[in-house]
Amino acid sequence: MKTKEKTLLIIKPDALQRNLLGEIIHRFERKGLKIVGLKMIQLEDVLLNSHYAHHKDKPFFESLKKFMKSSPVVVLVLEGLEAVKVVRQICGATCGREADIGTIRGDFSMSTQTNIVHASDSLETAEMEIKRFFKEDELFEYQKIDFPYLYSEDEIN
Ligand code: CMP
Repeated sequence: MKTKEKTLLIIKPDALQRNLLGEIIHRFERKGLKIVGLKMIQLEDVLLNSHYAHHKDKPFFESLKKFMKSSPVVVLVLEGLEAVKVVRQICGATCGREADIGTIRGDFSMSTQTNIVHASDSLETAEMEIKRFFKEDELFEYQKIDFPYLYSEDEIN
């Protein structure tokens, strides 16, 4: 049986500026991922320094932070069986020019930096990133009526 997972998605400033917010959220909804957290925030250096700590020595670090602060972002927590992997598949490869057509980056991005979305890359990272962006009372547990139609009984029992 596959496990239910939660993962973090950031819809970046380029997506908001290019009026793609609804389109992007729609893709995850249609797939069957459950939105259990969602808010608009303005990113600041302190949060970005920890979120992108693994890139701090890269030449693009300052430029990446400037871009991520250039307008608000929307952050979501998405839930579903194997959600970490599924969400990354929907996002596509990091560089929009290389991402498969049909993925978000493949359809909407021409860049490595301005690549529309960020998604957690493992379950361990997802747990850390969700805590970084959401307080416990900003996450919701609720039933959705589509649930029995999204999965077979043996997948969820
Ligand atoms: P993201 O999934 O948010 O993870 C790290 C981000 O760094 C990545 O998406 C890009 O926005 C950015 N990034 C990664 N590699 C490069 C690069 N070579 N040049 C500029 N930005 C990059």
